[in-house]
Amino acid sequence: MDTINNLFICLFLSVFTFLLLRAVAAAHLRRRKTRLPPGTLGLPFIGETLQLISAYKTENPEPFIDDRVSKYGNIFTTHVFGEPTVFSADPETNRFILQNEGRLFESSYPGSIQNLLGRYSLLLMRGTLHKRMHSLTMSFANSSILKDHLLADIDRLVRLNLDSWTGRVFLMEEAKKITFNLTVKQLMSFDPCEWTEKLMKEYMLVIEGFFSIPLPIFSSTYRKAIQARRKVAEALGLVVRERRKEREGGERKNDMLEALFEGDGVEGGGFSDEEIVDFMLALLVAGYDTTSTIMTLAVKFLTETPHALSHLKEEHEEIRLRKGEVESLQWEDYKSMPFTQCVVNETLRIANIISGVFRRAMTDINIKGYTIPKGWKVFASFRAVHLDHEHFKDARSFDPWRWQSNAGSTSSPNVFTPFGGGPRRCPGYELARVELSVFLHHLITRFSWVPAEPDKLIFFPTTRMQKRYPIIVQRRSLFDPCKE
Ligand code: HEM
Repeated sequence: MDTINNLFICLFLSVFTFLLLRAVAAAHLRRRKTRLPPGTLGLPFIGETLQLISAYKTENPEPFIDDRVSKYGNIFTTHVFGEPTVFSADPETNRFILQNEGRLFESSYPGSIQNLLGRYSLLLMRGTLHKRMHSLTMSFANSSILKDHLLADIDRLVRLNLDSWTGRVFLMEEAKKITFNLTVKQLMSFDPCEWTEKLMKEYMLVIEGFFSIPLPIFSSTYRKAIQARRKVAEALGLVVRERRKEREGGERKNDMLEALFEGDGVEGGGFSDEEIVDFMLALLVAGYDTTSTIMTLAVKFLTETPHALSHLKEEHEEIRLRKGEVESLQWEDYKSMPFTQCVVNETLRIANIISGVFRRAMTDINIKGYTIPKGWKVFASFRAVHLDHEHFKDARSFDPWRWQSNAGSTSSPNVFTPFGGGPRRCPGYELARVELSVFLHHLITRFSWVPAEPDKLIFFPTTRMQKRYPIIVQRRSLFDPCKE
């Protein structure tokens, strides 16, 4: 009996050892085949999320990336927002990620953003519908539309907003009003009114909810955001229905909503009400928060760099003098602002309001000797590249003059990607530039200003000035631009 028992134990141990060795060998083989980028996954579940958030809540989040890049190199593994993530600070890898959208990678947003935007928002769409909507958006924000149509609205709405400025102004708030009103005008032809003001208030609640826990029981911010989203969708839905009726009566407007009704010559025809509402809802988010932040930050950086501000003043005063009493800007005026374009680029580079984009690997992907496993998240960091001394000399200072030569960079022109790239490249890239340039022109020629109190730039949950950048403005005489 003992012998049989011993035999059994021997057999069991042999099988167990064999299976164990096989598992170890398989794991070893797998690790060799799937060589993850170096890095650490941090604590169970939360990974390195808390380190990331606390860094991005300060004015100088750079050490979070710098420390890891110096330890592990430009591509490293981390664990943020509940998932293991490959982080790229390498321009070539970023380019590869962006260009392979829909083939090797797909866009990936947190659950809260997905729920609040709606499935037909451009940011979440995939495949053919995304292609159609993206090209339609592009066709409504390209240079010729801007030149023939949008510039006049931008110019008028910026001036209208500035007319009311006096004393202490929260720049971030005013900039938001300008860009919100512009986007509403572009989308559905409404001028600022009580309705647009109410809509904007609801929008702010929706955006607050983007970075909350997407569970109504736990987060009142998320609950409020969901309610606000419903109200916004209802308001937009009403507009869509009314406009459909007007169209039946033969009325046509020259705006994006009209283009959506028609499918605007794009293969596949027009869109349903639900598609249109989700699309408009997301375009308002994408267009107004980003551009208003860049407006505020341009003013902040200029205020802190007086020689850049005085160079810019010279450029705009020259335009003003040339135009005499005509206040409104024409396309030729916009095209004669070379230093302004340097300021726009430099603000985009150093502010990095979209610090990078998340994607999900659709299959195992080999890159630079590493494997990104299928299903893993990747983060293509624009910020890390834009602030890398290897690509931009003295990368962490605001220096608009760098754009007067060498496309700003000391390495290649492909390293500057504030608007992303590939099939999801921002369709509003030109529109944002025009809005910022026109805003700077009218601000600089009409006002002088000083900060009302110290404020702080933070980067989480979104890039913003903590106190909305309060400034004290003083009106300058329009027709005597040399006077301070
Ligand atoms: C300074 C201002 C802006 C910046 C820095 C910016 C940046 C970006 C970036 C980086 C992306 C790519 C996201 C990705 O690849 O996942 C993007 C996408 C997008 N942007 Fe902008 N943007 C700005 C202004 C605007 C404006 C004015 C509009 C209005 C038309 C707009 C509409 C969009 C839309 C609809 C998308 C989604 C594109 C898609 O997924 O196909 N953006 N933006």
